[in-house]
Amino acid sequence: MYGNDFAGPDAGSDGGLLGQVEAAEAALRAAALRGRVEGDPAALQDYFDAVIAADQKIEPRDWMPDAYRRGLVRQIAQHAHSEIIGMQPEGSWITRAPSLKRKAILLAKVQDEAGHGLYLYAAAETLGVSRAELVDMLLDGRQKYSSIFNYPTLTWADIGAIGWLVDGAAIVNQVPLCRCSYGPYARAMIRICKEESFHQRQGYEILHTLSRGTQAQHEMAQDAVDRWWYPSLAMFGPPDTDSTHSAQSMAWKIKRFSNDDLRQRFVDMCVQQAGVLGLRIPDPGLRWNEERQAHDFTAPDYDELMRVIKGDGPCNEERMAHRRRAHSEGAWVREAAAAYAAKQQEVVPA
Ligand SMILES: [Fe+2]
Ligand SMILES: [Fe+2]
Repeated sequence: MYGNDFAGPDAGSDGGLLGQVEAAEAALRAAALRGRVEGDPAALQDYFDAVIAADQKIEPRDWMPDAYRRGLVRQIAQHAHSEIIGMQPEGSWITRAPSLKRKAILLAKVQDEAGHGLYLYAAAETLGVSRAELVDMLLDGRQKYSSIFNYPTLTWADIGAIGWLVDGAAIVNQVPLCRCSYGPYARAMIRICKEESFHQRQGYEILHTLSRGTQAQHEMAQDAVDRWWYPSLAMFGPPDTDSTHSAQSMAWKIKRFSNDDLRQRFVDMCVQQAGVLGLRIPDPGLRWNEERQAHDFTAPDYDELMRVIKGDGPCNEERMAHRRRAHSEGAWVREAAAAYAAKQQEVVPA
């Protein structure tokens, strides 16, 4: 799934990868030449457009339109906040995991999510904002995080359902971001996706074990899938017709597929996996459509999605209260780290 881009031994022929790279480089050289005309905004925009058209990366040192920078800050910050808030629903199960092995695996997973938050805050900082500013914007509600983390984890099976469905949806959403036009974001996503893939498998394995356990365990697994299915579908965002940022984001090659395309891909992937799990997807409208070569399915409740995003989900208040408390209780750690860093700079080398 995360293999390289090389199509094979004859990829160098016309129209192959090497041919495309050559054409892209020629276009970039020409655009760079035009960009040397100092202070010429049209030339800067030309170079930016040429980099995007050639499927190359925009790097922090490059000129970029303000709206591109602002849009990326919003998206990367929202993504980083989601990773950090997303530690809460699962973190609460670390002490209650049913065995030492399950505990160690879940601990590693939750720790990975903290790491994802850090890579993403670091990627956002390359755009000229500080992590402290972004955290403030989360804490005072100016920035959001994914709606999915406002649902409660009621049983151990929820940890399985989150891994399978929530991390699964994250993978479908995020694999295309590995090729997004902003270099630091794309590179952070490569590592994140590899780890998400491990997360999905651990969730799948939990559900697989429960589904084949006692009748009560099977029912617990089914109940978790019943509760997490529609919120997971909602993770792909509003339908394409209502998606505010999509068109511009696609033109800038930040987003590579539409919300509805990704949602369809996720449903098609899950149907087969649910069959292997021996669990039912809770949608009476789910059926194979021969003509479309895809599954028809019932859309999630988008009004609920908007309500949860705006703060009215089952756990919004609890999640934000916990985050604010953790932030204030961690103040001494940040102060100590800053004092230590300042002291290190004072040390004159012998
Ligand atoms: Fe993550
Ligand atoms: Fe994850």
